[in-house]
Amino acid sequence: MKTKHLQPHQIAEAAQLLKQGQLVAFPTETVYGLGANALDSQAVNKIFQAKGRPSDNPLIIHIAQIEDLAQLTTDVPPLAQRLAEKFWPGPLTLVLPAAPTVPREVTAGLNTVAVRMPNHPIALELIKTAGLPVAAPSANRSGKPSPTRAHHVSKDLENKIAAIIDGGPCSVGIESTVVDATGPEPIILRPGGITFEMLEATTSERLTTIAPGLHGTRANLETDETPRSPGMKYTHYAPQAPLYLLTGTWEEQVKKLEKIQERIEKSKEKIGLFISEESFRIISKKSNHRIEKGAIPVIQRAGSRENLKDIAAGLFDALRAFDETEANLIIAETYPTHGIGLALMNRLTKAAGDRIWNEDN
Ligand code: TXA
Ligand code: MG
Repeated sequence: MKTKHLQPHQIAEAAQLLKQGQLVAFPTETVYGLGANALDSQAVNKIFQAKGRPSDNPLIIHIAQIEDLAQLTTDVPPLAQRLAEKFWPGPLTLVLPAAPTVPREVTAGLNTVAVRMPNHPIALELIKTAGLPVAAPSANRSGKPSPTRAHHVSKDLENKIAAIIDGGPCSVGIESTVVDATGPEPIILRPGGITFEMLEATTSERLTTIAPGLHGTRANLETDETPRSPGMKYTHYAPQAPLYLLTGTWEEQVKKLEKIQERIEKSKEKIGLFISEESFRIISKKSNHRIEKGAIPVIQRAGSRENLKDIAAGLFDALRAFDETEANLIIAETYPTHGIGLALMNRLTKAAGDRIWNEDN
């Protein structure tokens, strides 16, 4: 199959392909999604094939108006209604009781369904024009970082899907927050674009998060466990080279970076660094201009520590960029877990598979 590369003015053509049961990758504010008609199990099956995704990992259904929820769920509890009204369109996914019309390919056999309304003009117009609920996971090969640019999608899925709509870079850059809204208290299954603090300010109920990789829990659960969000048990977001995280305060991390810098200059190891502007400035002053020449180490600058949103927005692009370099080991700076920092650290921890940098590595 030859993948069509479509521009935003060609949404009608993309919508037609969706109606015919084909797969179309499209931009959202979080990451690019790989869409199929959510009510057509054959079309949904193609998603799993194209991504190499395990069939027990359910999909998110994308809608363009709140009223479309009714056909997908048996009940919209008051808590869910409130969250939807407050944060849709936006990077929030609600897990709700599934209606029998939702194919089991979408829910992976669970009795719940995940739904969100993306805040992106192309995504919304595509869903409206197709007149369908659109099932869409992130448009990457399973295990790869989620795509935040159209060329990331082509790299992973070229000629495996019918079309890609190029809508430029995604503004949030990290996937939606997944909230289980089936019970009396909301539970964050995956932190994302809508932060813990934003949700807490909207709910009087106690808010908890079971996001793995945080607060001393493991990043990847054993595969025989059945976690509440099935996607969490799989390796994610990983670049090809092993990734290690720096720990400690920023000052402590900078000290470690300076030692790494010395080691690289002596040994010529091909180490990649994913670090903030602030850290970059300090260590580049101390090096013999080797960094400025972009030789070794291979550096992806993450943005300023003062603006974690920027760092989150560039994370997956940076992780993918390391794959195009010679780096055979990557070391990443870590950040506070407030605001979007929680989602950022969740993705970094998963990409690192819990590996922490120490000098013996
Ligand atoms: O921002 C996003 O959410 C992007 C864009 C394309 O919308 N989509 C996305 O989809 O990240 P995906 O398939 O990569 O991640 C969906 C997550 C998985 O962790 C999955 O296990 C969880 O949502 N999920 C889906 N249905 C669920 C359900 N019924 N109960 C619990 N978790 C569910
Ligand atoms: Mg994904």
